[in-house]
Amino acid sequence: SAIYRADYQAPAWLIETVDLTFDLDPAKTRVLNKMRIRRNPGVPAQALRLDGDELNLARVMVNGGGTSFKMDGSQLVLENLPEGSDPVELEIFTTCAPAKNTKLMGLYVSEGTFFTQCEAEGFRRITYFLDRPDVMALYTVTLRANRHDYPVLLSNGNLVDAGPLDDGRHFAKWVDPHKKPCYLFALVAGQLVAREQKIKSRAGREHLLQVFVRPGDLEKTEHAMNALMHSVAWDEARFGLSLDLDRFMIVATSDFNMGAMENKGLNIFNTKYVLASQSTATDVDFANVESVVGHEYFHNWTGNRITCRDWFQLSLKEGLTVFRDQEFSMDMAGTPSARAVKRIEDVRVLRTAQFPEDAGPMAHPVRPDSYIEINNFYTVTIYEKGSEVVRMQHNLVGRDGFAQGMKLYFQRHDGQAVTCDDFVQAIADANPGSALAQHLEQFKRWYSQSGTPVVQARGQYDAAAQTYALTLSQSCAATPGQADKLPFVIPVEIGLLGQDGSALPLQLQGTDATTASQTLVLTEATQTWVFTGVAQAPVPSLLRGFSAPVVLDYDGSDAELLTQLAHDSDAFNRWEAGQRLALRYALQAVHADGAVATDILPGDFVAALRDVLRHPTLDAAYKDLVLTLPAESYMAEQLDVVDPQRIHAVRESMRQQLAEALQADWAWAFDTHSATGAYQPDPISSGRRALTGSALLMLCLAARTSGDTAWPGKAYQRFKDAGNMTDRFNALSALVHSGAELAKPALERFHALFKSEPLVIDKWFSLQASNCDRGGQVLPAVKQLMKHADFSLKNPNRARSLIFSYCSANPGAFHRTDAAGYVFWSERVLELDAINPQVAARLARALDRWSKLAEPYRTAAREAIARVAAKPDLSNDVREVVTRALGD
Ligand code: ARG
Ligand code: ZN
Repeated sequence: SAIYRADYQAPAWLIETVDLTFDLDPAKTRVLNKMRIRRNPGVPAQALRLDGDELNLARVMVNGGGTSFKMDGSQLVLENLPEGSDPVELEIFTTCAPAKNTKLMGLYVSEGTFFTQCEAEGFRRITYFLDRPDVMALYTVTLRANRHDYPVLLSNGNLVDAGPLDDGRHFAKWVDPHKKPCYLFALVAGQLVAREQKIKSRAGREHLLQVFVRPGDLEKTEHAMNALMHSVAWDEARFGLSLDLDRFMIVATSDFNMGAMENKGLNIFNTKYVLASQSTATDVDFANVESVVGHEYFHNWTGNRITCRDWFQLSLKEGLTVFRDQEFSMDMAGTPSARAVKRIEDVRVLRTAQFPEDAGPMAHPVRPDSYIEINNFYTVTIYEKGSEVVRMQHNLVGRDGFAQGMKLYFQRHDGQAVTCDDFVQAIADANPGSALAQHLEQFKRWYSQSGTPVVQARGQYDAAAQTYALTLSQSCAATPGQADKLPFVIPVEIGLLGQDGSALPLQLQGTDATTASQTLVLTEATQTWVFTGVAQAPVPSLLRGFSAPVVLDYDGSDAELLTQLAHDSDAFNRWEAGQRLALRYALQAVHADGAVATDILPGDFVAALRDVLRHPTLDAAYKDLVLTLPAESYMAEQLDVVDPQRIHAVRESMRQQLAEALQADWAWAFDTHSATGAYQPDPISSGRRALTGSALLMLCLAARTSGDTAWPGKAYQRFKDAGNMTDRFNALSALVHSGAELAKPALERFHALFKSEPLVIDKWFSLQASNCDRGGQVLPAVKQLMKHADFSLKNPNRARSLIFSYCSANPGAFHRTDAAGYVFWSERVLELDAINPQVAARLARALDRWSKLAEPYRTAAREAIARVAAKPDLSNDVREVVTRALGD
């Protein structure tokens, strides 16, 4: 049954202190929970209702004596607690079975080590509690376990005592000096080793940083530790926020549902976002480690010091913290060009993942109004769109104004559990003259209305008056539960280019200042701006830097877009111009009759791409982005009826054309960008590797038609000799995706080389499942790989590497006319649901957009979803996803 935001009520009881004692045992862990609780004075007296899930209750005591209690579903209800405002001592003794916990929520065992995951509602699987983020308490935690099997015992805060016990056991006692909601509780116990680093913060306070991993992985933690040190320094420098703990720990586990978790002082990470060495991790992995380490660290202030009132406010911490980690990565990247690359990558994620979500059955506002299972709402909308909503605030008040707003936010709310409204109010109040303050109530619609707005732009040049009138109109399609939308506040940054690509000065009618770029704030359904002194018909450069998360509908001519591709001073829009042209040609080819053409891209566009590829000053990373065609999923979003096979064929044909037409240029790019010297994962070097990787694939693709085997041979050579995983994996991918004969021996060799590196074996599975060359043969290969000794559905990373790669990242192989891909999907969803509903529900989202599919896919996909929905004992997680997908 659904939970509604409007039903929020303050807690009737508060928990002041919690004293937890764990006797850790994989089969049966005993948890003694002593709480001091108090009635909330502002709320009418009520029974105490504590949440629990899969717990065995042994004893309940109140103020040292027995008490009556009852169970209401999974809640423990105490109706006869003492009246009045005195604190009550409550003691609850329960047991749970961590070894059987395959959901990986609550307390579980991974490779012989205990871990916890409590966000969002996992703490109730550890003990009975008020499992809601607005109940904040002080924690003392004592861990007791066998010393040999669990030498390291960790929890939040400071270690205040430790020592031996009888029977080969030992204990450790931790005290967290900060109040926290229970979703930030964590414990870890096992055989771990740590990289340690002492640092001094600006204020002179000393801190111990630790990164814990399994013995043998220690040399893969240097990058994570560096990222952590940079994160600490960055938050001090940019926002004046210092580390508030003596000790800050990161622990890695290979069994984790998500990326990582910001537990106070004890972050727990998926190994994928901690471990990195040049021989096992790619440049993308290195960048992800930096970004996720930053993200979790930044939560210490945005999430932990100020947390969410309820889970509907999830984006309060997630959107803001993604914004902060994006800014961190940009500041770390350094150059304006590297910043632009990061911005383009982030927008690409938004457009290929969030826009479809916002247009599909799971569409929800950044601050949802209801949910059935909160775990289903850790989405690209909450995270990435939420970050864009914060970014618009940042841009509307300016960088310094935003820093002032953050300061006010902490002055007002440090130590509290608050709402998205509280955040935007603080940013606006700190900037009373800003457009944000001026339009605050309307701006908040970004939090309440779902769907991606469309901004239509139409320009009119008056040569006689030398004016250019730009009319912007906004609309937003209906989404589930929201038929009509009110206008948003949409900042549209624009510039004007001359026909030769030079920047034209911008002067708004009635003002005398001229600028090169300007932000227009669209608040009405339609508004017109007139620019004066425009000496020639301009090429408008609209939505620079992707200044708002909208779809821009502007019908620029091919010539205009080519001008932007060659000259736009806004790096984002320069890239965007190429994407728009490619998309335009792709859609024309999709709509055309008959077989897919081999010359979809016109010669002038190919020549323009050649100019970018050969450009003397552009960064390699940027070139690589420009030369990468829009994703099939992005193309699909532009269409009302989607034939995935047609889209796949069109994109493959375009890529083949680029491979052949630019063959000499790719060879040049490969030769001139191949790196020498020591491996460094910095943006410049990784950009060069990305471009050579793409070049190699293009050269192997061109070899398919020319029959020239030199390039596949070179790729194999590079695969064998590469000194780092990026070059090695790119070479392997080039062989696989081009269908080279050498792919098979290379895959075998790769497995043999890395059989003891789980994260690399994940790549091995993933590459084969996302093979875009083998079409109908991919599914049988995936089924075969499920029988591989290294495959396990229980490990989320492994399940994602094979099953998700096939169902979500390989549309050309997944959408089959015989429906076998969908049948496979439904079987895996059901199989996973019995093990781990959270992961199953993610997989269930793979068919979100079924209703747009052309026949026979549409009917077959609907049947597959209905087959899942027909299962009587589905988890809430999967039930919510498939129910919404079917639209009932
Ligand atoms: N708060 C974590 C992060 O964004 C994500 C944890 C979500 N976990 C979950 N089981 N839903 O960094
Ligand atoms: Zn987060």
